[in-house]
Amino acid sequence: HAPDGKRNGDIHRDYNDDRNATSEDTLYCTSNGVPMPHPYETQRVGENGPLLLQDFHLVDLISHFDRERIPERVVHAKGGGAHGYYQTTDPLDDICTADIFQPGKKCPISVRFSTVGGESGSHDCARDPRGFSVKFRTEEGNWDVVANNTPVFFLRDPAKFPHFIHTQKRDPATHLTGADDSTMFWDYLSQNPESIHQVMILMGDRGIPDGWRKMHGYMGHTLKLVNKKGEWKYAQMHMKSKQGTGFITQEDSANYSPDYAQKDLYNAIEKGEYPGWDVCFQLMSPQEAEDLWEKQKINVFDLTHVWPHDQFPLRKVGEFFLNENVKNYFAEIEQIAFNPAHLPPGIEPSADPVLQSRLFSYPDTHRHRIGVNYQQLPVNAPRVPYRIANFQRDGNMAFYNQGSRPPYLSSIEPISFRKRTVDLSSVHGHFTGNAVTFLSEIRKEDFNQPRVMWEKVFDDGAKARFVSNVSGHMSTCRKEEIIKRQIAIFREVSEDLASRLEKATGVKGYEGISNMRFNGTHNGMAAEKSLRQAN
Ligand code: HEM
Repeated sequence: HAPDGKRNGDIHRDYNDDRNATSEDTLYCTSNGVPMPHPYETQRVGENGPLLLQDFHLVDLISHFDRERIPERVVHAKGGGAHGYYQTTDPLDDICTADIFQPGKKCPISVRFSTVGGESGSHDCARDPRGFSVKFRTEEGNWDVVANNTPVFFLRDPAKFPHFIHTQKRDPATHLTGADDSTMFWDYLSQNPESIHQVMILMGDRGIPDGWRKMHGYMGHTLKLVNKKGEWKYAQMHMKSKQGTGFITQEDSANYSPDYAQKDLYNAIEKGEYPGWDVCFQLMSPQEAEDLWEKQKINVFDLTHVWPHDQFPLRKVGEFFLNENVKNYFAEIEQIAFNPAHLPPGIEPSADPVLQSRLFSYPDTHRHRIGVNYQQLPVNAPRVPYRIANFQRDGNMAFYNQGSRPPYLSSIEPISFRKRTVDLSSVHGHFTGNAVTFLSEIRKEDFNQPRVMWEKVFDDGAKARFVSNVSGHMSTCRKEEIIKRQIAIFREVSEDLASRLEKATGVKGYEGISNMRFNGTHNGMAAEKSLRQAN
């Protein structure tokens, strides 16, 4: 036993103690706890001589500084967040077994908001989708919702994601971003017309949210919610801002500071103005999913489409609030790891191909970005009412290594197992017969929802701003051919839109896409069979 009576193994610092650290009652020490009289005390030979390698204090200081950075997130690098709580207000127990949706349930949460394409120091008011991630620390383990502020995405084939993201990173030769040269960006979009729905949102009035408090969050992907009987429904999750929505115009965005959204959230919480969101679901039976495909050609696994709200209204389950700022950005935000595969029993992934790929991608990048034992970090560690046992051992920084418990399924020291609450055979037994086989095939229905936006959602002012945003952005596109192709895609949305863009850019676009070939996409609307085959 140590002199204070604790067993030697118990002398480690508590997380909350560290998180609440102040300068009171502190003693300056090296990393091994040896007190030092002063931090500026480099050991030197004589008045002008070289330094001494024995000076552990200096080596300790500089070598730690040398290693301060971890890789920034490959996407969504710029962001910020806060902590709070979720509570169920309208139980979903008829639909889903997850403990968190049962009556009276509440849990701590952490949220991170972000832009997508920019680097860690980039501008909060970029025209870019926003990330909206929530870690629900439920009594059945962590549930992570890794969502965006838009209900659709640029693609439905996950193989395109790295390509698309690369077009928004720096050019390999010029090292310039899209702010100076938009050629790569429009080149990609003009080759992949299924992106059009997201482009309509991105380039419209909803393209630059006014901070993070005034935006909704959408999972976008279809999930499956399973009830006690093993019945399941498809579900789309929406997080509706209680603050309403607010957006910034292109013109105005230049007047905001680069960390505007971070400042806005932090200050609101400090003032006690806690932002909140309603958590809602659209629900759909497997039969309704078949009908939606038969009648409207909307596939529930297609991330470029939304579910019509008149047919699938929102059902509220609960709400959450952010009421606590982080104390240490690096520990609580930079190292937080959200993973769409973190799902408690009763919430299942659907066969959406992009979601399926994301289930792999996030923990893979976390092992690289943070390290193999990232789940042990306080901000990521589950807070559950049972002692977790498993057979993961060792690796870098294994702070919690499960003591002397056997590292295999032992009959001598058995561990316990919970009864299965979800009948997996029913959950995974059904696939709709209409899954997109060619993930990238363009169909005429791909333009229906974008057309509704142009014709019904945008008023005259919104249309003018949209045209100005697109033509302004295209002004740094170096190839006219790309603009011609992209205008053809806009023409499939609306002739009116295409002709306005032709006027604004001074480029005559192609007449629709039926005679176009795309290098990333099968053109299901091709006029000639030979062209279709060539695609
Ligand atoms: C972050 C991959 C699509 C939302 C990330 C990260 C990766 C990634 C590697 C960095 C994670 C980290 O370092 O912690 C992918 C892939 C996708 C995809 C491979 C498609 C194939 C999506 C979609 C959404 C989304 C469709 C929204 C519906 C987010 C958010 C973050 C993120 C919100 C930031 C998470 C945070 O705040 O830490 N993505 N992503 N991603 N992604 Fe995706």
